[in-house]
Amino acid sequence: MLLEIKDIHVKYGNIEALHGISFHVNQGEIVALIGANGAGKTTTLHTITRVPPPEGPKVTKGDILYKGKSILPVEAHILVRDYKIALAPEGRHIFGNLTVEENLILATYARKDKAQIKKDYEKVYDLFPKLTERRYQKSETMSGGEQQMLAVGRALMTGSNFIMLDEPSMGLAPLLMYDMFRVLKALNEEGMTILLIEQNAHLALKFAHRAYVLDTGEIVAQGNSVELMNNPDVKKAYLGG
Ligand SMILES: Nc1ncnc2c1ncn2[C@@H]1O[C@H](COP(=O)(O)OP(=O)(O)OP(=O)(O)O)[C@@H](O)[C@H]1O
Ligand SMILES: [Mg+2]
Repeated sequence: MLLEIKDIHVKYGNIEALHGISFHVNQGEIVALIGANGAGKTTTLHTITRVPPPEGPKVTKGDILYKGKSILPVEAHILVRDYKIALAPEGRHIFGNLTVEENLILATYARKDKAQIKKDYEKVYDLFPKLTERRYQKSETMSGGEQQMLAVGRALMTGSNFIMLDEPSMGLAPLLMYDMFRVLKALNEEGMTILLIEQNAHLALKFAHRAYVLDTGEIVAQGNSVELMNNPDVKKAYLGG
């Protein structure tokens, strides 16, 4: 197992937001975490990436293992720098007053592998031709979809081989949404492990190998994507019947 979440409980203040959730991601997999608004999806990612309170939750019980070792004591920037875990966060969090190129350069700050960095640039521009066109544009003036691509491109520039994405389809028109998922699929086929958070269960189950369904801080269903697509409860609650 690459990532293992073991009976994690977290709180915001005195309110428990995750009531003991467990799941895992194997090397080379695409695993989706699906659930409605407020289910605890972003909270789960913030727990893994060690976002500190008050924005992030406080872990009260359980453990998170990466390659068999607890990462609970590890700080967020160390996870990116030394563990090569990348996050494309919800709401994008790109630097709006910087250009596309500058945002991508900034993501490489902790890397020393110059030759590989150059290859990764080419790859990001290759995967997202729109970003090539917008290379020297201030990113806040780009469309929401273009900013979403930049957020994913930036995660790729950290040189990680494990990437977590919080609702990459959000705000994208259907065509762009499929483009985005095609890119992610291609990356996975080259060996990238992906943990995908999605509200769009249709899309997530089409794309992921396995998935977990989160409901108000608990995992209520899990399995491979085909099983879940045919699970009557999942169909009813998340797939429109
Ligand atoms: N920083 C915070 N402080 C207090 N409560 C929070 C905080 N962040 C999230 N919550 C609460 O925790 C619960 C889970 O929120 P979370 O953002 O994880 O949901 P989500 O599944 O990502 O939803 P969405 O699909 O809307 O993004 C919600 O009830 C939310 O109000
Ligand atoms: Mg969220």
